[in-house]
Amino acid sequence: MTAPVDPTTTSAWTRLTALREGFDPDLRGWFAADPGRVDSLTRSVGDLHVDLSKNLVTPEIFEALVALADETGVRERFAEMLRGVHLNTSEDRAVLHTALRRPAGVTPALQVDGQDVDHDVQAVLSAMSEFSDRVRSGEWQGVTGRKVTHVVNIGIGGSDLGPVMVYEALKPLADAGIQARFVSNIDPTDIAEKTADLDPETTLFIVASKTFTTLETLTNARLARDWLWAGLAGSGAIDDSDAARVDAVAHHFVAVSTALDKVEAFGIDPANAFGFWDWVGGRYSVDSAIGLSLMIAFGPDAFRELLAGFHTVDVHVATTPVERNVPVLMGLLNVWYTNFLGAQSHAVLPYAQQLSRFAAYLQQLTMESNGKSVRWDGSPVTTDTGEIFWGEPGTNGQHAFYQLIHQGTRLIPADFIAFVNPAYPLADDGRDVHGLFLANFLAQTKALAFGKTAEEVEAEGTTGALVAARTFPGNRPTTSLFAPALTPSVLGQLIALYEHITFTQGTIWGINSFDQWGVELGKQLALQIAPAIEGDDDALAAQDASTAALLQYYRAHR
Ligand code: F6P
Repeated sequence: MTAPVDPTTTSAWTRLTALREGFDPDLRGWFAADPGRVDSLTRSVGDLHVDLSKNLVTPEIFEALVALADETGVRERFAEMLRGVHLNTSEDRAVLHTALRRPAGVTPALQVDGQDVDHDVQAVLSAMSEFSDRVRSGEWQGVTGRKVTHVVNIGIGGSDLGPVMVYEALKPLADAGIQARFVSNIDPTDIAEKTADLDPETTLFIVASKTFTTLETLTNARLARDWLWAGLAGSGAIDDSDAARVDAVAHHFVAVSTALDKVEAFGIDPANAFGFWDWVGGRYSVDSAIGLSLMIAFGPDAFRELLAGFHTVDVHVATTPVERNVPVLMGLLNVWYTNFLGAQSHAVLPYAQQLSRFAAYLQQLTMESNGKSVRWDGSPVTTDTGEIFWGEPGTNGQHAFYQLIHQGTRLIPADFIAFVNPAYPLADDGRDVHGLFLANFLAQTKALAFGKTAEEVEAEGTTGALVAARTFPGNRPTTSLFAPALTPSVLGQLIALYEHITFTQGTIWGINSFDQWGVELGKQLALQIAPAIEGDDDALAAQDASTAALLQYYRAHR
């Protein structure tokens, strides 16, 4: 494995630093002076048409960014990842989510650390497909012989956010009369509300946990098991015996995990468990068996189409020169904004209600991956890292936070994502509603780039102080991602795109984007504090003054 290159020592960084001095972006002027700007800054990958022209880059900046990728070894590191080098140094693991979407029969087969990776991936996919088909056809039945109508995925973080996001995105394709729900939070409201209207006889729970140790997931799984037993016994469907309970679990619980021994200890038959491997990070796992709920809802063919979409972008990232490599270029632009223009956050604004959970998904992908202060060799980072990702679908966001993006004092680069064809082609009084929706996407990116000058405001008859209030500075950078429709393949392409953007940035910053030690301390402390909540005075006395006072408040008001 290559040592991290300090990006600030590269000649590209020096050039970018010089280019930033006195940098005065002028998208209006740049577009006027260069009629070829759109063509020269438009790229494609798979079905994604990617317009980078409204970014704050000149040809010199673009060139220096490409050089930065070369000097920091981005392409070499992609190659290392794809062949199974242990890039996750702090856990001494390979990083092989890309192997989950290699098509069957690719040669040469991928062998890593003595494992026939391709064989194992295809074996799990086959087992998932067979099981999904049984559930979808009704051959798999609940304990009283009824077909499953609801699948409830119990998981958190990467064992939840990917499946929820994809389910919402592809919901119009659910074709087997099976709905999915997702329980993640240990707040009991979550499971209580998600199961309130379900029939235990037709509900299948998937306990999804890479480690099978996560407090939230195991607690919710036990609550779900109690709910199942109580519901079935309450209606007389099963008796109260241990044997009946075991039988009920066998019909209504399956699991997805890398720790199949722990699955068995929980009481789930290993025959009903689907495995994956420690070289799949939680936030990179939606395309592993963690996607079982999706395969059940949409069918094995749709799931394989999703995987094929991912693979298209994997091939692109591995084989395309940096100048045309979409994920690498988008990662480089993020570095430009973060490290040279002072951006702290990045908005992702899908013009697609179906992508309502995309920003939440990206928050784990990007922020758990690159929210780090040390590099993969343990030394401190030499630059700012990890911007804050956030967003909501348009047009809702337009009526909430766009004001700040248009006229606020902060630079917020934004990705707009839109699809030519809608899932539901509705008309309002003869007008295509989706067309109107897309007009908003185009209007927003145009307004952000080109703004509205004081002269233009005055020409409309506005005078005095109102002129400044109605002036839009423009030069707010956006990338437009356009695709024909939100198919499973296109969704896979989008997810892989952001995975590789994240990896590009992590590589430039020298970060191991595949561990997440920053979430551990809170987990440990929660376990230490829980006894104090339950009344243990010694545990309360061991707390700091603020935590102890909050615990006292809790005790006084419960
Ligand atoms: O929050 C930390 C984390 O480890 C995530 O990285 C992971 O996706 C999530 O918890 C859930 O973990 P598991 O799938 O092991 O239950």
